[in-house]
Amino acid sequence: MTGLSSWISHALDRQLEHVSRGDLRERALATSETYRAGGSSRIVASELDALAYAVVRMPATYAAVRAALAQTAALIPDFKPRSLLDVGAGPGTASWAGLDAWPSLKRAALIDGNPHLLALARKLHASAPQIDLSVVPGDAAGALDDDLAADVVMASYALTEIEPAVAKRVLAKLWALAGRLLVIVEPGTTDGFRRILACRDFLLAQGAAIVAPCSHEGVCPLAEDARWCHFGARLPRSRDHLAAKGASVPYEDEKFIYLAAGRGFGAVARGSRILATPKVSKASVALTLCAPETAERRIVDRRQKEAYKAAKRCDWGDALPS
Ligand SMILES: C[S@@+](CC[C@H](N)C(=O)[O-])C[C@H]1O[C@@H](n2cnc3c(N)ncnc32)[C@H](O)[C@@H]1O
Repeated sequence: MTGLSSWISHALDRQLEHVSRGDLRERALATSETYRAGGSSRIVASELDALAYAVVRMPATYAAVRAALAQTAALIPDFKPRSLLDVGAGPGTASWAGLDAWPSLKRAALIDGNPHLLALARKLHASAPQIDLSVVPGDAAGALDDDLAADVVMASYALTEIEPAVAKRVLAKLWALAGRLLVIVEPGTTDGFRRILACRDFLLAQGAAIVAPCSHEGVCPLAEDARWCHFGARLPRSRDHLAAKGASVPYEDEKFIYLAAGRGFGAVARGSRILATPKVSKASVALTLCAPETAERRIVDRRQKEAYKAAKRCDWGDALPS
């Protein structure tokens, strides 16, 4: 289970101190309904709306980014980035998850077209562990200047909101600004997967190396499949989150897909990405693995003692060492 870092929860609680829970619930329900109907963060049009987003969506996008970064960082453990650019940053979700994954980060720049979400990001930053923050209000299509180049560039749940015709230009700029690593996180839907596949094709053509989640740089095994590549992150719901959604289950599952493309990492031992929940029995572990052109089904028999033990410890989204 991946919850918000405690400093974010406390900072958010402080922002909520004088907010009517009835008003928050009303705006949170509107936000949730908008997302369920395929809408976007354009619904966020006030300070209260930004808080509603932070209560009902940020914990899920944070958990997704945190999981994507954990999978990525595990493959490049020597990478200690100092700067981060967060595009379509909203309340700074990906930056805060980045700070958790890489305590080496010293500065972050946040770009967003929504002033209410950026204002909340600034308020949360007041409680953040030491990191210099610059906030750039504006449209990603025009605001991505060369001086924003950073070791890590991130776009979390943002490309989904950018017009496809503009998104390709934005992607080219994101890659140009990424000193070492570009991480894109999208909803774990078929549309999200299609967007990630298009990014993958584009970035490979630019000479990028795929760090994660793909096990290889060949044809994606699910490109022509009815299935689609995605992963899951479970997150706890706070009391406000439960109340705002009128929910009683104390957790939720967020489906996401991501791509981490890098330069200058040399050969990365990527292992084989596990594409579905392993089926564990007393006799074997059945795994679905990412392999070139095929989603390989591998049965690890309990008689293969060490391999069986290792496979039993693995979960959906982990990389099985080669
Ligand atoms: C779903 S929110 C994601 C926020 C945050 N990255 C997260 O993961 O929680 C999408 C964000 O992208 C921003 N956005 C959408 N289109 C944009 C554009 N063309 N330029 C800048 N920001 C944009 C929205 O204002 C919003 O804050």
